[in-house]
Amino acid sequence: MYSGTSGTCGNYSLVPLPNKRARSGFDPMSLQQIVRIQTKRVALEFEVDAKSRLVQRAFGGQENDPSTVIAIPASGDGWVFEPALRAVHADGNTSTDLIVDAMSQQSDLTRIDLRDPEYPLFVQLFIRAIFDLDTFEIWTVIHHEEESEVVLEAFASSSLDFGTGEFWLTQFSGDWADEANMISERLSPGTKSLDSKLGVRAHQFTAPWFLVSQGAAPSEDEGVVFGGSLAWAGSFRFSFEVLPNRRLRTVCGMNPNASAYRLAPGVSFETPKMVWACSDRGTGDLSRLLHRYVREEVLRDGDRPRSILLNNWEATYFTFDEDKIVSLFAEAKELGIELFLLDDGWFGSKYPRNDDSQGLGDWKPDLAKLPHGLSALTDEAERLGLQFGIWFEPEMVNPRSELFEKHPDWLIRQPKREMELQRNQMVLDLTNPEVCAYAYGILDQTLRANPGITYVKWDCNRYFTQPGSSYLRPEHQSHLQIEYVRGLYEVMGRLALEHPGVQVMMCSGGGGRVDYGSMRFAHELWPSDMTDPARRIFIQWGFSHFFPALAMANHVTRSGERSLKFAFDVAMSGRMGLDIDLANLSVCERQFAARAIAAYRQIREIVQFGGLFRLESPYGGPRSSLMYCYGAAAVVFAYALEDSRANSLALKGLDRERLYQAKEINGECGMEGTLSGAHLCEHGLPMRALGRFESAVILLTAQ
Ligand code: GLA
Repeated sequence: MYSGTSGTCGNYSLVPLPNKRARSGFDPMSLQQIVRIQTKRVALEFEVDAKSRLVQRAFGGQENDPSTVIAIPASGDGWVFEPALRAVHADGNTSTDLIVDAMSQQSDLTRIDLRDPEYPLFVQLFIRAIFDLDTFEIWTVIHHEEESEVVLEAFASSSLDFGTGEFWLTQFSGDWADEANMISERLSPGTKSLDSKLGVRAHQFTAPWFLVSQGAAPSEDEGVVFGGSLAWAGSFRFSFEVLPNRRLRTVCGMNPNASAYRLAPGVSFETPKMVWACSDRGTGDLSRLLHRYVREEVLRDGDRPRSILLNNWEATYFTFDEDKIVSLFAEAKELGIELFLLDDGWFGSKYPRNDDSQGLGDWKPDLAKLPHGLSALTDEAERLGLQFGIWFEPEMVNPRSELFEKHPDWLIRQPKREMELQRNQMVLDLTNPEVCAYAYGILDQTLRANPGITYVKWDCNRYFTQPGSSYLRPEHQSHLQIEYVRGLYEVMGRLALEHPGVQVMMCSGGGGRVDYGSMRFAHELWPSDMTDPARRIFIQWGFSHFFPALAMANHVTRSGERSLKFAFDVAMSGRMGLDIDLANLSVCERQFAARAIAAYRQIREIVQFGGLFRLESPYGGPRSSLMYCYGAAAVVFAYALEDSRANSLALKGLDRERLYQAKEINGECGMEGTLSGAHLCEHGLPMRALGRFESAVILLTAQ
């Protein structure tokens, strides 16, 4: 399946660089060769054919399949399937042809320059190969020197051919409070698309990531599987087309739907990175590769442990005051919590934010609730040695707000249509630089005035339903979805750059913004507003395919009225936090919480930096389990979704030669014993029977 590294020089085959950009006098034969982009176990191969066109061999495998297909199929000159590029030239010609002009390689980056032989339209294809992680980032830059605008009607970041065979697609879909449900299906002839047209909070129904497996639905430990993910906060489209010749082609990028882009001469149009990882050892190995990719290449401070957090949202909702918040600090500190997050409801004066109907946009503390402003809170948190964080929703506005009264034109909406509200709010028009400046300004001013704020929860609670902008010219209305995300990234980028000490949680009414693009500006994400641990297990399972535990904020709440132990054990398998009113805990519960937090501290490094091994899927029931291995230690989490017998649990990832001491933590009925890694992997870890919604956490330490 996999191409070995022999015959390559370092990461790549050597590719002679043509020294002429011009077509005239260019010898196509000199380019008629293979460019092989090689990682540890995967190869992506292109070839320049006799007509100077860029063609691709099957990705990742099928080494023996010598057939090639066009690499960037453009519409209008023979290609009748899903195009990667569709351009209407300045003279109205709707066809594009692309030939290779030049190739260059620098370190891990390959660049292939293509152009239309008849028009001054240029496409640069970029491929960054992350050798150790079998991961590729693929994107394009399009520009032209035609007389006037060229209209781009399709602009995929990547268009890859997978060869022939039977392919399965696994998507992660759902809705608010029901994110990342895994659904696998066999791809049949024709096109299957996963897409979002929501623009903002674009991932509410479908995550911008998927798996493609060969031969069968993906399995944890074997088989060839690809993970694809678009680093883009906005609308996306992934199409999977099984062509009549049974080859699978994927075309992935920003959603071109209603987004024709009028590109002026001399302006570059860069598409977002499409990230592809590949493993021939199943989804377990694939996830571990992607987790390293996310920690090392995406997240901010991916090598730093995350704090244990107390959030007041599910504890108080909008009903709190300074005394209440301050009283939570002392309790939090006593329990071993490190960071307090003040959620929605802290702002608004003319329109105090006492529910979700008003105040959004007026980011000044509500003095009725917080008479001494935010600084009284940050001072008190600092005095107690607690970090302090705050909730923002910088992209949004309630019509009942001072901001709306001042700038009724700053909205995404359609003229002559009744304003359509979601959660009583509208989206601000971030295609407008003035609005971006405002959005950054409110963050910047609040953080500068309160240097004690070291954490921001960035929320986003609605999507576009009336995508119109009073800022964009009429002929540029179709740029809205793309320009919005560009504006958003600008604001997020400035926040990261100018406030490097402030950590960011990406939230969007739960998991509505979960892409590798916005996560470049963040430390962690809030996967879902669903915090009932019985449901959350499934959501965390889904997210774990693309995100490491360190990035997944999981909070202990009272949702579902499960036992505290079950709620803690589920939250502990990610970045643990709490969202409960500590004042309402009984003495016993408080003692339990303190012990559970201490237990989490004990395993934090293993969970946050360890390699994840998914053991038993919750979809299979009755027990779901997973483990993390880190150096000489490992931690196992087992959750019973139905009564489960005392079946032993086969572990993974351990050193078979070593002896491990196994000890149940965070529980009364602790089991203890010493077993070899080989025994634990082959015969399993003896487990006690667990009743429905009971759980166990077992720490393994190599002797
Ligand atoms: C969204 C978030 C919640 C909370 C509320 C506040 O729904 O997902 O965690 O912050 O907003 O309004």
